[in-house]
This record gives sequence, structure tokens and C-alpha cells, in this order.
Amino acid sequence: MRSSKHIVLLPGDGIGPEVTKAAQSVLEKVAGTFNLALTFEERPFGGAAIDKEGRPLPPETLSACEKADGVLMGAIGGPKWDHLNGEDRPEGGLLALRSGLGVFANLRPVAVPASLAHLSALPPAKVAGADILVVRELIGGIYFGKPRILEAEYALDTMRYSVGEIERITRVACAWSLRRSGRVTSVDKANVLAVSRLWRETASRIARDEFPDVQMNHLYVDNAAMQLVLNPLQFDVILTGNLFGDILSDLASTLAGSLGLLPSACLGGSTPLFEPVHGSAPELAGKDVANPVAAILSAAMMLEEWGEAAAAKCIRQAVEDTLKAGWRTADLVVDGSPSVQTSTFVSEIILHIGRAK
Ligand code: NAD
Ligand code: IPM
Ligand code: MN
Repeated sequence: MRSSKHIVLLPGDGIGPEVTKAAQSVLEKVAGTFNLALTFEERPFGGAAIDKEGRPLPPETLSACEKADGVLMGAIGGPKWDHLNGEDRPEGGLLALRSGLGVFANLRPVAVPASLAHLSALPPAKVAGADILVVRELIGGIYFGKPRILEAEYALDTMRYSVGEIERITRVACAWSLRRSGRVTSVDKANVLAVSRLWRETASRIARDEFPDVQMNHLYVDNAAMQLVLNPLQFDVILTGNLFGDILSDLASTLAGSLGLLPSACLGGSTPLFEPVHGSAPELAGKDVANPVAAILSAAMMLEEWGEAAAAKCIRQAVEDTLKAGWRTADLVVDGSPSVQTSTFVSEIILHIGRAK
């Protein structure tokens, strides 16, 4: 055994448990194939933790995450907990987890291999070869700004970014772009928001002073949304804040074809956290129909973060080959062709991993 890693699983709510189980079984298979020692521990989180322990992020869950080598989250939230406010909500637990771990850099890759461009909601010719990395600031901005007030007659959220917060996420985006094509598009709303003016100024300075080989341009978020649909091939790395990154990454999922395909990594803190971009899709829960790819590719990002590039690549290849061979979960069916259940789809991926080595 080369290395031993301990993983905390946070299945959460809705389709979270199904996709987390899928990712775990793929990790177990790849561990056997690549001689990795992986141990797993499941902890209550989100709505499930509210039901069990009265709060979405029990302290024991956070401390287990802090001690782990990696955390794999499914999804949280649902109508059952929608009457709750702020930090009492499952979503509040997720914000507290990200902030507690200090994972300020959320990497959300969106890749559309030419062979799978026909799955896209957009014309294949427009999206084939698209390969975008959204670098989203994750523990600042309007998600965390104080005060946050909800009164009967008015409500207030505060958007705040410090220079230091903008500098560190800009460095992450620029460093990643150097491993790619060296282009960064910073997205803001500097024509209106003070925070965005500071964002643009700071991002430009870091790129100019510290990354002479990076080419940075700037787009307003409204235009960026349109450009993503109109001409996605123009983008390499997209650098943006918490709220805009949330919105743009769901939008970018239409390039690939489904939100169920997009993984993410939350880095820069005490323990790396890996989570699908999608939510708990309550209407799909318990039906064995959810697309597990986002969770499985999030597990691949975890292996990559640990330096297990070959194992990560094997998972990616198995997912791509399974899709190329025509296997589809229901969300990917564009032309009335048949789909399979989540469990069948996962078995197929596992078979491909078995054949890979
Ligand atoms: P959602 O991402 O759950 O679903 C949006 C759409 O995408 C739905 O049509 C859903 O069926 C589809 N979808 C999502 N994941 C899929 C998958 N793996 N396979 C197939 N189809 C999939 O977003 P929503 O409906 O706006 O929110 C539902 C709940 O999830 C809310 O409580 C929300 O707060 C929560 N949420 C949680 C996370 C998270 O845990 N990281 C992210 C987003 C939303
Ligand atoms: C996401 C989700 C979360 C976010 C919610 C559930 C707090 O939409 O991970 O994209 O907005 O960050
Ligand atoms: Mn989101």
C-alpha cells in the first residue's frame, strides 16, 4: 500500500446519499486497482443532521472533517427544512462547514469533450472542446457579510470583500491558468458595485505584478452570462466571487448537458472538501435516477489533490467511456433514447475501471 487516506463522507439529503454511495463504490474499486488504502467514516450533515441532532453541522461532524484527509459531500437541503432561517438551515450548515474548514477556493471545472458535445443543451459545434475552470471565492462576499437582517418590513445582506480575500483567490486562479492556456477572465459588476471595483483593481494588480505570463481580461457578470452561452470556447479560467460563481457555474452546466455532471473541489483550508455543484434534487430522491457523475468526478478531484493522478485519470476515463458507450442517466437523454438507473450506470463505470488496468 502506497498511501493511506481517511475520508469523511457527508451524504446529506435528497439525492446526496445516492450519489455519495456511488462515489464511495468507485473510490473502493479504484483503491483496489491502484493499491491505495482508503478508510471511510460517515457523519450526519444538513437536513439529516437537523433531524437527528437539531443542527445542520454538529460539532463532531466538523471536528471529524478537520481530522480527515478529505471530505466528500453529497448534497443538502429540501422542502422539509425550508421554513428555517439562516444558519439553522441545511444550507447554513454548508456555509459553516466551508468557512470552518477555511476552504476559500472553489474549483468548478466544466469540460465538454468533442465526443460528448451532443449531450449539451447548446449546439454541439458551439461547445465541443469547451474546457473552463470556474474559480469561485467560497467563504466571503455576500454569503458571509454582516449584518444580515431579516425583519418584517425590510431585509439586508452585506456584500464585503477585503483586499486580502481578493488577492488570495486571484493567485489561485492565475496559478491554475498557468497549467492551462494562461488566460483568466475576472467577472464582476464594477459598473455598479463598490466591492466589484475593489475586486477588479486588486485582481488586475496581482495578475500584473505576480503573474506576467497570465493574460487577464474583465467582464461584467451580465455580459459574462451571455458570453458563456454564445461563445463558451473563448473562456479558460473564470475568476469570480461567491454569488456570481454560484450562478455562473449552474449556467455553465448547460454546456456539458446536465448539472449532474459537474464536480467541484473546495481548497485552501485545513481539509479539502469535494462536492458536486448540484443540489439535493428532492424530486429525484430515492428513485435511483440521479446522475452520479458529479459526485464521482468530485472524488477524482480528491485523488488528484492527494497526488494520485493516475487513479483520478482512470476514473475520468471510465466515466467518459461509459458515456461514449451510450449509457445514460435520465437527465442526459436528449433524443428519447433509453436511460438506465443510477446503480446500473455506476456498475458500468466500475466495470470500465476494472478493464483499465
Ligand atoms: P438542484 O441542483 O437540486 O436541482 C436543479 C435541477 O437539476 C433539478 O431539475 C434537478 O432535478 C436537476 N439535478 C440536480 N442534480 C442532478 C443530478 N445529480 N442528476 C440529475 N438531475 C439533477 O437545485 P434546486 O432544485 O434549486 O435546489 C434543491 C435543494 O438543494 C435546495 O434545498 C437547495 O438549497 C439545495 N442545494 C444544495 C446544494 C448543495 O448541497 N451543494 C447545491 C444547490 C442547491
Ligand atoms: C452550491 C449551492 C450552495 C451555494 C448553497 C446550497 C448554499 O448552491 O454549492 O452551488 O450557494 O454555495
Ligand atoms: Mn449553487
